[in-house]
Amino acid sequence: MNIVILAGSNRKNATSTRLGEYAAEIIRAQGHEAHLFNLYEKPLPFYAPDEKQDTDEHLAALNALMLAADAVILSSPEYHGSISGVLKNALDHLSQAHFSGKPVLSISSAGGAVGVSSLTQMQTMVRNLHGINAPEWISIGGAQRRRFEAALDGYEEFEGSQDVEDRVQRVLGSFLNLAQTLTAAKKAL
Ligand SMILES: Cc1cc2nc3c(=O)[nH]c(=O)nc-3n(C[C@H](O)[C@H](O)[C@H](O)COP(=O)(O)O)c2cc1C
Repeated sequence: MNIVILAGSNRKNATSTRLGEYAAEIIRAQGHEAHLFNLYEKPLPFYAPDEKQDTDEHLAALNALMLAADAVILSSPEYHGSISGVLKNALDHLSQAHFSGKPVLSISSAGGAVGVSSLTQMQTMVRNLHGINAPEWISIGGAQRRRFEAALDGYEEFEGSQDVEDRVQRVLGSFLNLAQTLTAAKKAL
């Protein structure tokens, strides 16, 4: 399968992006393709329907990746009880053509214990884009974010990092099962 991870932070060392990279490692280890599109490294223009934007290099790359995806992971920091502006802008550029019938996993990083608001809002947008929300999601919050800061800065593992990794791996496993079932069913049509 081909899985696209849309990393929705505009911060270089974002834990939500590192979580997406960790997901990509797990997906690749299971024999699938994973492509992470990092909105910090590849910023998109503000969605402006009155302007001709289809020549933008990053938009064209995102469009091609998303059209080819069998499944999608959306990653966001929790900002003011919502998703990041850059992720919302990216989603405004996309449409049902990129999501329809595809399984989508939402993941987030929050300062508080759990980023439920951003996750709920991502799932609402997925539903409106006719994607298929995975029944589970992944939130890293509070001290759990250290696992993904640690990976970046090379710090020692902290107590509890294994629990975070186990949870991420379990949810990704069930997401990949769902994606495989749906991908196989589509091919059989
Ligand atoms: C503008 C802004 C708004 C935020 N709002 C919230 C919030 O509503 N709830 C929360 O739990 N954390 C909030 N935070 C903290 C971030 O969710 C937290 O730092 C998170 O780890 C950022 O993800 P990142 O590491 O991917 O950048 C906010 C941070 C910023 C900069």
